[in-house]
Amino acid sequence: MKAHELARELNISHKELLNFLQQRRLTRNPSAPLSPNAVEAARGQFGTTAAPTRVPVNGERKLVLPPNVSVKDFAEKLGVGAPEVIKKLMQNGVLATMNQVIDFGTAEIVADEFGFTVEPIASEDVIAVEAGEGGDGVATTTREELFSLAGEDPAKLRPRPPIVTVLGHVDHGKTSILDAIRKTKVASGEAGGITQRIGAYQVDTPDEGRVVFIDTPGHEAFTAMRARGAQVTDVVVLVVAADDGVMPQTVEAIQHARAAEVPIVVAINKTDKDTANVNRVHAELAENGIVTRHYGGEYECVHVSARTGQGLEDLLTTIVLSSEILDLKANPDRHAVGTVVDAHLERGRGPVATVLVQNGTLKVGDFFVCGHISGRVRALTDDRGQTVESAPPATPVVVSGFTEVPVAGDIFQVVGSEKAARTIALTKLQEKRTTEAGRQSQPRITLEELARRAKEGESKELNLVVKADAQGTLEAVIAALQKIEDPVVSIKTVGQGVGTVTDSDVLLASVSNAIIVCFNLKPTPAAERAAEKARVEVRYYDVIYKLTEDVERAAKGLREPTYRQIQEGRVEVVMPIKIPRMGIIAGSRVVEGKVSRGGYAKLYRNGAQIWEGRISSLKHFKEDVREMVAGQECGIGLEGFEDIQGGETMDTFRLEREEI
Ligand code: GTP
Ligand code: MG
Repeated sequence: MKAHELARELNISHKELLNFLQQRRLTRNPSAPLSPNAVEAARGQFGTTAAPTRVPVNGERKLVLPPNVSVKDFAEKLGVGAPEVIKKLMQNGVLATMNQVIDFGTAEIVADEFGFTVEPIASEDVIAVEAGEGGDGVATTTREELFSLAGEDPAKLRPRPPIVTVLGHVDHGKTSILDAIRKTKVASGEAGGITQRIGAYQVDTPDEGRVVFIDTPGHEAFTAMRARGAQVTDVVVLVVAADDGVMPQTVEAIQHARAAEVPIVVAINKTDKDTANVNRVHAELAENGIVTRHYGGEYECVHVSARTGQGLEDLLTTIVLSSEILDLKANPDRHAVGTVVDAHLERGRGPVATVLVQNGTLKVGDFFVCGHISGRVRALTDDRGQTVESAPPATPVVVSGFTEVPVAGDIFQVVGSEKAARTIALTKLQEKRTTEAGRQSQPRITLEELARRAKEGESKELNLVVKADAQGTLEAVIAALQKIEDPVVSIKTVGQGVGTVTDSDVLLASVSNAIIVCFNLKPTPAAERAAEKARVEVRYYDVIYKLTEDVERAAKGLREPTYRQIQEGRVEVVMPIKIPRMGIIAGSRVVEGKVSRGGYAKLYRNGAQIWEGRISSLKHFKEDVREMVAGQECGIGLEGFEDIQGGETMDTFRLEREEI
């Protein structure tokens, strides 16, 4: 169920609902379907006191299915017995037993017969497979459900440290800040100094809190993980150098953090420099929608220097405070589930991965599934290079015991037995193959696709990533786009930038369901490839007017247009006339008003309407004419209709679009 549908059901505004859900961290992506817990929570909060049983309205009976599903699971999801599904399958010529797996297409047909519409699970990785009760069964859940705390015993939930990602322009000091924090807080008491790079670090804060930092190479990696459905970041620290100010990648980082809907804490770095100009940075941030506390806004901001260490404690405290309101919790007393943030092949150790444990506790000896790989934890190493026996929630650890190198963003999940791990990994491998095969048939994100989604009420937003050849033209394009007003569909620029389309643009567009519009730019092969792979549409323009016109038209088209019929006149058919190569047209006399080419008509025989449609041609003798008025005789061609007889009458009308 989508947020807007729920908002309608609860009779509250979409915004109010999203605020509620976001505050409780029940959704991160407002356009994605809501999890059952989110729906439940919102109903509990806003619902009327009436019993929460919901009568499935036509069109609301929706199922999200993986590429393959067993008959048994499928029947369960449909809420019917397996024999009923087997019967329906047989009627469709498919012989299957209860434990047999059917593909999405087959499931779709059967679901339809039970009155359900089905949707494929959005991306290859949203599927997490869990061990069934018996240890060897396989069940599918969405990633969201897997990481949700809804099924946890509230008594077992414990507060957990926030997970922070540091983003910012190149050379603004992201790594230096992390190093400085680690040196003073982590490595200071350590003889060997800083140990190996593992991509994620745990830091103790002055007030005895803890923060986990993820050190990704940049926002591309951050978004790449998000594109795969991984949601590991609770807070983003945006680093801006005081001597350099807001730069293109700062702007991109802001956009990516916004798209992820996580709180942003600004760290203005390099304040020790003579050339530092902190005020300018605040002003530039404000221009980009990040109004800091110093400027009366809502964004926390700390002035720091990685070189002198000034402000770093303050930064940690600010992060802790910003995350406290998020009320982050986890259950340490269960099988671990987490996400791979980094992985590589290490000499002597084989494939290793830095896993961020998000829920549960990971222990040496645990059987796990990670993507399509299964394995057993051979050793765990913490961020200081120490061997550890277990890793509680919100701990980054290096795990060895993989048979292959996993990919950042993969789900890491502990299961009860080796057999379960193997079964699940195998299923995932098969799924991966099917999905890869089916990938090409996925709908591309195009203007038309967006139009379709809007029509079906899935979204009322037209998201754009805008690129231009220069700052000036970019601003001009954005200004022109802002002028487009549409009462129903809002046009949102989720990203913008100068220069050719980059992977980062494509990723941003792909995760935001946006298309990319370019002004005064030429397609590059790399961009084309990236866009093709992510199935994102890139449109190129060299006239601003054309660009805005297309967007405007798309926005208008996103709405189901409604038309009004405006009566124009009345016509009497004298006799059918056969015209070579044209077919039969109605030789007619206009009795009242007029008839116009391109207009519409209703045809009556003996007082009953027998046809309605477009007038395809209008002739006066042999000439094509635009319109004929009362008293004139003419030939009227009816689109796709030739069964015309003398004595019939027509009402002519034109369609006028109703503006909302
Ligand atoms: P990328 O990883 O390449 O995107 O860069 P980064 O943001 O991680 O920057 P990095 O930490 O590598 O720092 C870039 C340069 O800025 C280095 O030469 C640092 O020594 C310098 N630098 C970082 N922080 C400070 C600071 O607070 N003051 C001064 N004076 N120099 C700094
Ligand atoms: Mg760096």
